[in-house]
Amino acid sequence: MTCLEIKNITKKFGDTKVLRGISFEMEKGEVIAIIGSSGSGKTTLLRCINFLEKCDTGSITVNGTEIYNAEKRDQYSDNYIRKSRLNFGMVFQSFNLFPQYDVLKNITLAPELMQIKRKMPDTEKKNIRRQIKEEAYELLKTVGLSEKAGAYPCELSGGQQQRVAIARALAMKPQILCFDEPTSALDPELTGEVLKAIKSLRDAGRTMIVVTHEMEFAKNVADRVIYMSDGIIEEIGTPQQIFSDAQSEKTRAFLQKSNYEF
Ligand SMILES: Nc1ncnc2c1ncn2[C@@H]1O[C@H](COP(=O)(O)OP(=O)(O)OP(=O)(O)O)[C@@H](O)[C@H]1O
Ligand SMILES: [Mg+2]
Repeated sequence: MTCLEIKNITKKFGDTKVLRGISFEMEKGEVIAIIGSSGSGKTTLLRCINFLEKCDTGSITVNGTEIYNAEKRDQYSDNYIRKSRLNFGMVFQSFNLFPQYDVLKNITLAPELMQIKRKMPDTEKKNIRRQIKEEAYELLKTVGLSEKAGAYPCELSGGQQQRVAIARALAMKPQILCFDEPTSALDPELTGEVLKAIKSLRDAGRTMIVVTHEMEFAKNVADRVIYMSDGIIEEIGTPQQIFSDAQSEKTRAFLQKSNYEF
């Protein structure tokens, strides 16, 4: 089943055309890695998909429902955009945890704000809180941090903080999880544990878009790889096609520059 359909997204900042017509589809459970040199528009694409930027043209369809069409961009209310954004979970390079809250609270805060309404009876609030907490413990187990529920972000390594950020994104039950270079702020010895967590999410059937500089990871974990250059998809294919049989000269040059061994 097609889970996400991106059609002809363009985005300009001033006179600079950063995205020049991006289209792709992904299936439920698919993992797409996006690679490309600095400034090619990878972050901007993720930000457009998450409505952190409004694209100038194009549309975004999730599970068959068009949730954004640039032609109607001025008609969408903030509330509509906030709701639509829930289709996507974002994990950024900088983990952005709340330093004043422990790990558990970092994960439960947003679901509680969303699900608990002021007018609800106290017993219902309590039930929802308990349910959210139970789910948070499950998510912590998924990212291998069960024992850190009561720790504060400053007591965690960068890799652990990033895994909490992943659990936090999952707590909102997004259809699609998007990562923007989730390991590039980490010391090399900590990247492995985060990549392992993402890999286990893949094995659990999560639909994910991962912008990454980790070529080995893209090769081993992604179902398909997108190589972006100058705001377009220069090439898209299986890791085998991209890494061993790239059709585009630009793709081959990029991979060579990244010291990727063919
Ligand atoms: N808010 C903005 N205003 C103006 N220009 C921007 C803005 N955001 C991004 N750009 C420009 O758009 C281009 C693409 O940026 P983007 O951050 O999407 O690239 P990237 O592929 O994610 O690069 P990197 O690998 O370094 O993260 C760059 O030239 C950047 O300067
Ligand atoms: Mg970027």
